[in-house]
Order: sequence, then structure tokens, then C-alpha cells
Amino acid sequence: MLIPQIAEATAFIRSQTDVVPDIALTLGSGLGPVADAFEGIAIPYGDIPHFPVAHAPGHDGQLLIGTLYGRSCVAMRGRVHMYEGYTAQEVTFPLRVMHGLGAHTACLTNAAGGMRDGMTVGDFVAIEDHLSLATAAGEDPLRGMHDPGLGERFVSMNKAYDPELIALAQSIDPAITRGTYAHAIGPSFEPPALVRLLQLIGCDMVGMSTVPEVIVARHANMRVFALSTITNISVSTVADSHVTNEAEVFESAKLITPKLSAFMEKFIPALPDAPQ
Ligand code: HPA
Repeated sequence: MLIPQIAEATAFIRSQTDVVPDIALTLGSGLGPVADAFEGIAIPYGDIPHFPVAHAPGHDGQLLIGTLYGRSCVAMRGRVHMYEGYTAQEVTFPLRVMHGLGAHTACLTNAAGGMRDGMTVGDFVAIEDHLSLATAAGEDPLRGMHDPGLGERFVSMNKAYDPELIALAQSIDPAITRGTYAHAIGPSFEPPALVRLLQLIGCDMVGMSTVPEVIVARHANMRVFALSTITNISVSTVADSHVTNEAEVFESAKLITPKLSAFMEKFIPALPDAPQ
């Protein structure tokens, strides 16, 4: 069912460019300017058959195809989220298309709330495991009729985050730590009680994206690297007077963008040429 739609979307993009990307890049909330160094074409999501359109603030909604830091890349400048009403399958359609265009490695970024003691705004954390409240509640992007043309029925999530790519990131920026990302659908920010629960079960940061894309990328046998940028510190008690809000997240993302660009400028050229 999905394969003809993927084929239609990829055929449309191929009619605009003959670039075959190695790397699929997704830029999280407010992090779109990382793609300013891109040389290539930009296609509004709305022009691509079956593509979901991004409505979230801070998400521009353009697919970029061309060269970034010397590598052939396809990048989502802005992503779509389940909190917009899209299903897990719909939010991951672009990832399927980027894979269909040829990308063998997914490099995903997000804005996240920091929950681990000692985290500060601006920290980068490489995701090494996740806990998804959405998938636990049945919103798994692989749920539904199985199409063997897309991948296997059951997909392991152990080492979904490529250990070699995490090590590469840490060799480029030793300040990058590793952590477990909790995925909540949103759009309400997590209440303090949920933050305490997530901390108790070993989660280090929390956000509203990335996990469905990781599941689909692994289903497609892509290598995955995912980086959380800490835009706010999650509030874990009602006694804390801090109130997390959208403006805080976007202000932080704006300050984080140059650091993320500097990291990507080194990381993207160093990514392996081919899948494992
Ligand atoms: N919670 C969920 N999503 C987020 C947060 C947060 O604290 N910060 C940025 N995205």
C-alpha cells in the first residue's frame, strides 16, 4: 500500500534532480538554519505527492537535495510531528522517501528537555536508546499490514543507534554525552509528575519526535545517528517556579544552531561512505 506512494514521491523528486543522496538529515525545532550551507534545490513539502506538510512553529517545510559539507544529502528542513494529528506512519513517510532516493544513513536532530542532573541548555546528547510512550501505547509506525518490500516484520531496537556513529560524534566533540530519549507525543509539555517518572526509569531527555523515524530507518536497514540538543531543563516538581514554554525552546535553538552547524561541518564529511 505504501510502496506505490513512496515510488510516486521519489519519482517526482527525481524529476527535479539527479542527485543520489547518501545521507538523510532531519533538522529539529528551530534548527533549520543548519541547512544554510546546503547547495542544491529546495522543494516545498506541499509539492511532493503524499508528503505530509509541516505546520509546527520553527519548522520550515522544505526538502533540500544537494551537497552539504561535501556530501550528497537530502535534508528535511522542518519535520512533521504526531502532535499535528499525523499518525506514526504519516510522520515517517518522508524518511521512507529519503531512503528511496538512496540515503543509507539517517542523521536526526531534535530539541529536547534535559532531565538528567547536571545537564544545561546547549548540551548535545547522542541518543543511544529510547523509550516511546507512543509506541508503548500502540502508535508504532510499523503497525499494520506487513509489506515485505519495506523490511522485516519485527525489527530489533537494540543498537538501533549506531555505536560506531556515536563514537565518531564523541571523537569530534568530546563534550557530547550519551543518553536515553523519552518520546512523548505532545504538544503539551510533560507535567512534573511525568518528568519524575521518566527520570526514575532512566530517561535523560524528553521530546516529541525522532523515535518513529528511527524505527522506520532501522526497518529500512539504514544506519542511524540521532542527536538531542538541550533547549530547556525539564521541570520535575511543582515547587519549581520555572514554566517551560515554546519561546524558551526556540530562543535556545537559535543560540544552539551555530554550535550544531560547527559540529555537522565535521561530522557529515566523516560519516561512512556506505552502509555496514
Ligand atoms: N519536552 C518535549 N519536547 C521538547 C522539550 C520538552 O521539554 N523541549 C524541546 N522539545
